[in-house]
Amino acid sequence: MPGLALITGASSGLGAAFAKQLAARGYNLLLVARRGDRLEALAKDLDWQHHVRVETLAADLTTAEGLAAVEQRIYAAEDLELLVNNAGFGTMGKFFQSAIEVQEEMHRLHVMAPLRLTRAALEGMVERGRGGVILVSSVAAFLAAPGSVSYCATKRWMNAFAEGLSLELASSASPVKMQALCPGYTVTEFHDRLGYDRGRIPKFLWLEADFVVAESLKGFDRGRLIVVPGWIYKVVVALSKVLPLGLLRKFSKRQQKAIGRD
Ligand SMILES: NC(=O)c1ccc[n+]([C@@H]2O[C@H](COP(=O)([O-])OP(=O)(O)OC[C@H]3O[C@@H](n4cnc5c(N)ncnc54)[C@H](OP(=O)(O)O)[C@@H]3O)[C@@H](O)[C@H]2O)c1
Repeated sequence: MPGLALITGASSGLGAAFAKQLAARGYNLLLVARRGDRLEALAKDLDWQHHVRVETLAADLTTAEGLAAVEQRIYAAEDLELLVNNAGFGTMGKFFQSAIEVQEEMHRLHVMAPLRLTRAALEGMVERGRGGVILVSSVAAFLAAPGSVSYCATKRWMNAFAEGLSLELASSASPVKMQALCPGYTVTEFHDRLGYDRGRIPKFLWLEADFVVAESLKGFDRGRLIVVPGWIYKVVVALSKVLPLGLLRKFSKRQQKAIGRD
């Protein structure tokens, strides 16, 4: 029987999809996000449908108190088997014209929260010799885009962090797994929060949250470190590794202009 899975950002989108699929696999859940009412409603549904234990913890992971509350809960969880660092958000506009507070908040949520929560989770997992951590990164980790500078940079950090830890775990002969999940455009509340018109992005580029999460869990079962759902995005990532930087910069600039995000 699987143990406990903790999912940050479980009140909507990919986080809620992780909660549903992990409950269907028999995991007990600890759901974290700011909107406690959403978490409660999801917890009731999952408990009723899958008869698993679902706990909720309303916390803002950009605050010291919110992060500490989740971190302490992890240190106390002796049955923690999976941590999904999923909470995140995007911004629009140029870095040098943006509010620095929001940029800092993004770094707290995409970097400091996964850093502290992963540290807390791995200690027990390595001791018990089982478990894993998924970081919900993005295809943006492989790119640098005007209008999304901090977003690309923080997602790139997630990939580097997951890669480094997987080497460290392997060199310690630990079976604990790491994954950086790198989705492309996915239908969630992410773009609604930005007030972004999804119609500006061609339909064939949109992925469904359930598909992205199913690919992540399939990759996790197989011990895949980097998971890029969808063949289109696999091509994008492969190209990002072989095309010259100058060409990539030109393409990325044109793409951001076309969708109105530069
Ligand atoms: N959608 C895409 O196209 C796409 C593509 C690639 C990667 N991603 C990544 O996927 C992850 C999930 O995003 P999504 O697409 O599912 O968007 P979403 O529907 O907006 O979900 C974001 C989640 O993060 C939580 N959250 C935001 N700020 C938080 C904070 N300060 N403290 C705690 N929780 C917070 C939100 O809950 P509350 O508001 O209730 O706190 C929500 O549950 C993000 O890391 C995003 O970067 C998304």
